[in-house]
Amino acid sequence: MKITGRTRLAGVVGHPVTQSLSPILHNAWLEAAGLDGVYVPFSVNPDRFRGFLDSLRGSSVVGLNVTVPFKQLALAAAEQATPRALAAQAANVIVFQEDGTLLADNTDGEGLLWAFETQAPDFDPAAGPVAIIGAGGGAMGAAAALLAAGCPEVRVLNRTVSRAQALADQLGRQVRAHDLSETGPGLADVIAVINATSAGLSDPSAQLVSLEASPECAVIMDMTYKPLRTNFLMQGEALGRRTVDGLGMLIGQARPAFEAFFGQTPSDQLNVRALALDAMETPS
Ligand code: ATR
Repeated sequence: MKITGRTRLAGVVGHPVTQSLSPILHNAWLEAAGLDGVYVPFSVNPDRFRGFLDSLRGSSVVGLNVTVPFKQLALAAAEQATPRALAAQAANVIVFQEDGTLLADNTDGEGLLWAFETQAPDFDPAAGPVAIIGAGGGAMGAAAALLAAGCPEVRVLNRTVSRAQALADQLGRQVRAHDLSETGPGLADVIAVINATSAGLSDPSAQLVSLEASPECAVIMDMTYKPLRTNFLMQGEALGRRTVDGLGMLIGQARPAFEAFFGQTPSDQLNVRALALDAMETPS
């Protein structure tokens, strides 16, 4: 890669950010397109985030992906926000505009739907209820994206049912709250079950919920991509359900982000999934 005086800079900001696969994806797309750009990880202390963003205004930085724990702060810092960022109440993309202002966007929902399109192509979000496990930021973004795609009902199952209820109250009558133990009513007739919890991060071997009450045709999706085959997905596979993994969502959210930063659709010819899998297997 050649860095010149005209190189456009983008990156991912988080804390921590060392494990991010986003640089692998974006730099591969940049190279394939022959663009003079580079994509780097920025690890930023949580109390310095606002100052970090402000210092990049009006610079050669064209945009940032935003990850944990900054997604809500990024939305709050931007002068403008897309309707989908407002609906998700979080931004995973910040575009630095020429006049020095920030535009917040959220491509996570698009990424979620892209993962289904590529790994379970006949899944139609408008065809029936979808269950989401978890009620944090990831669940909020997924629920908002599913409703926008025509999903008639989203059921939020959470360990702390009051958080599920708070999410339902914010998103409206099509969203129903359940306790995580209510898999009978929660999973009956669903067309998909999505794990949007962070449970796998603390204890990868824990069994979050039984998927037995889901119909055979339900697609089981996990937003976590480390490991790629999570316990949740393996349980779905053991029950004979089709599965969609979190790496599909990561690539699906990165594609529109690349377009927003560099003004070009990323190449379909490049197998970035294989590059990401390689990086996941290589000890860092
Ligand atoms: P994020 O914004 O990444 O979604 P979050 O706001 O911390 O993160 O939310 C994490 C979600 O994972 C919550 O729904 C949490 O459940 P609680 O609301 O009951 O805390 C869920 N979660 C985390 N660990 C879990 C576990 N071991 N079992 C069940 N749910 C868990």
